[in-house]
Amino acid sequence: MKKNQLLGICLLLSIVIFAKEGDLLISTSNTSLVLSAPVGGELQFIYYGEKVTMDEVSQIYDTGVAADCPAYPVFGIECSSEAALQVQHADGNLSLDMAITAINETESDEATLTEITMRDKVYPFEIKVVYKAYKNSDIIETWSEITHNEKKEVRLQQFSSAYLPIRKNDVWISHLQGSWANESRVVTEPLQLGMKVIKNKDGVRNSHTDHAEVMIALNGKPQEEVGQVIGAALCWGGNFRLRFETDASNYHSFFAGINEDASEYLLEANEVFVTPELALTYSNDGLGGVSRNFHEWARNEKVHGGTKERDILLNSWEGVYFDISEQGMEQMMEDIADMGGELFVMDDGWFGDKYQRNSDNSSLGDWVVDKKKLPNGIDGLVKIAEENGIKFGIWVEPEMTNTVSELYEKHPDWIICQPNREPRPGRGGTQLVLDLSNPEVQDFIYKTIDDLMAQNPDIAYIKWDANMNIANYGSSYLPANKQSHLYIDYHRGFRKVMERIRSKYPNLVIQACASGGGRANYGVLPNFDEFWVSDNTEALQRVYMQWGVSYFYPAVAMASHVGSSPNHQTGRIMPLKFRFDVAMTGRLGMEMQPKDMTNEEKVFARKAINTYKEIRPVIQQGDLYRLISPYDDKGVASLMYCTTEKERAVFFAFKTEHYHGQVIPCFHMSGLDENKLYRIIELNVEDEEPLSIKGKIFKGEFLMNVGLELPLKDEYSSRVLELVEVKLN
Ligand code: GLA
Repeated sequence: MKKNQLLGICLLLSIVIFAKEGDLLISTSNTSLVLSAPVGGELQFIYYGEKVTMDEVSQIYDTGVAADCPAYPVFGIECSSEAALQVQHADGNLSLDMAITAINETESDEATLTEITMRDKVYPFEIKVVYKAYKNSDIIETWSEITHNEKKEVRLQQFSSAYLPIRKNDVWISHLQGSWANESRVVTEPLQLGMKVIKNKDGVRNSHTDHAEVMIALNGKPQEEVGQVIGAALCWGGNFRLRFETDASNYHSFFAGINEDASEYLLEANEVFVTPELALTYSNDGLGGVSRNFHEWARNEKVHGGTKERDILLNSWEGVYFDISEQGMEQMMEDIADMGGELFVMDDGWFGDKYQRNSDNSSLGDWVVDKKKLPNGIDGLVKIAEENGIKFGIWVEPEMTNTVSELYEKHPDWIICQPNREPRPGRGGTQLVLDLSNPEVQDFIYKTIDDLMAQNPDIAYIKWDANMNIANYGSSYLPANKQSHLYIDYHRGFRKVMERIRSKYPNLVIQACASGGGRANYGVLPNFDEFWVSDNTEALQRVYMQWGVSYFYPAVAMASHVGSSPNHQTGRIMPLKFRFDVAMTGRLGMEMQPKDMTNEEKVFARKAINTYKEIRPVIQQGDLYRLISPYDDKGVASLMYCTTEKERAVFFAFKTEHYHGQVIPCFHMSGLDENKLYRIIELNVEDEEPLSIKGKIFKGEFLMNVGLELPLKDEYSSRVLELVEVKLN
């Protein structure tokens, strides 16, 4: 191939090129991955980061930047360093020694897929390392596929999805950590000597404590809009492990994959073990650039219905808790419809025949409507919703049961538990997890949703909850030698159920809720439209949590509701405006009893809901620019969304601290077109003094470089500004 032909091909958005003998250049619009993959030789990692051209690949070698270490290190010959894969062959041998046998490249409209197949030099054992470079987003997903043809099973002891060497240079990581009602707090720390492990072992949910995503700032403490940053997100809804090993070499070693604890996997001959995808991205525009890359990929590829506009809803939970009645639901539906909302979601408490669900200690699995509470059934409620011109949604928790339930009486063997031990129940002192490795359980869960939808085809939204971790690790379905498959097979079973539901009900909106924010994860999102960020609806704490979530997830997937005041979780009393302003940075909803609102509050809410309808495309589909972090302790937090064409933007500022003598920083916008003119409109205005900038026109460059002062006088002050491009003739 001639050089100019090669350069021509390089201009394509995503392409794989064989550079020199054995070199592979895998690129997206702005990033490149270079591997050395000579057939008969070893797969080596050379480079990942800023996009390079074909010519520059040889310069990577010339400058010494080439990393030249195994791209998917295996255990057995080189034994002293960390490995991505460690197995025990059927004959007991613990070693792998792989050589490349084939390289395959396929193109689709969506992505370029590069598969590198390696075979052990002695054993009939194969690994395929796969790279999927997207054409419309700067993401390369990578995973491995492991198979063999040995006489008996091979034991997989370590099976990371991917490995990435990271050149030492004051490298910092940012990741999310928290607990129930305090999820997704940002942690930023330098990588230091030794092992840093970020992991989860809940079994069911995987983002309450640590998240399966990380930002890696390559040259110093991370900044919002400058600096080289790699982002990594493991797309797996179960137990995960991200580990960084820092030894005396020039590189940090990063491995990501399923958490192998209690999960040794017996791989049968010809079975293919596919590890979850690790989504990688890189940006020279700091944390913000990496977030925008993830958001774009999420909306277009990874979140179900990610490009669809989302309805504004009222959820019944904090309004009535378990106290469900037809009259109560009717009143809430009338109220939300009157305020301009578009969807009502009836939460927990609507089901159970033999055992009524009046608290969290019974009835999960008995998915029949409680006729005492709802004499006209769900059908009756759907009709009321229709009469009010809104849609209807419902809460379910299909992966669970209670010891007090008809389901458990009929199928005690369907729960996760060792056969010779007493189950240790969770929530309500009676909750148990169903064994999703069992196909009968999968069928039951699928049928639960299918029946619900068959009887009530107009249900538009499902809130799918999961309120317990795996306890009593053991399955009466799995054979004795495969008990350690349960953590993995649970999630394979869960995915199968969701895929069946999705193929029949592609337009149903489904929220992933798991005791609040337990399922903010790219392993589940291909089948879910959004996730519940936290059971904590308190707006101030939400500023911090949603800030963290926004590192990796787009606003369209982030369910963000206006809660009551005093707030049910923290008791904090806050103005409705602040609560609305915070909720409007994500997918807006309400989680309160509207009948307790004053008339003035209802007037404000009606206006805010109508405003959100106007700005919804900018928030839900726009590019996010984080301006002032609440974690920087400046007393304020500020962010904005801009459309791709940069003709509209919405800016938010929140006061996070309040004391006498406080200095509020000047706000510098970001993401605007330097040369465009924007008119500023203030939104969600209460009775505060109008801003001096109201209605005035400014150049993008001015708003970004000179900035503006905003009065945020009172405790919980907040401001929302819309910027609309003005075209002067
Ligand atoms: C979990 C969810 C809540 C609510 C309750 C209902 O805690 O996170 O939003 O649905 O269950 O029991």
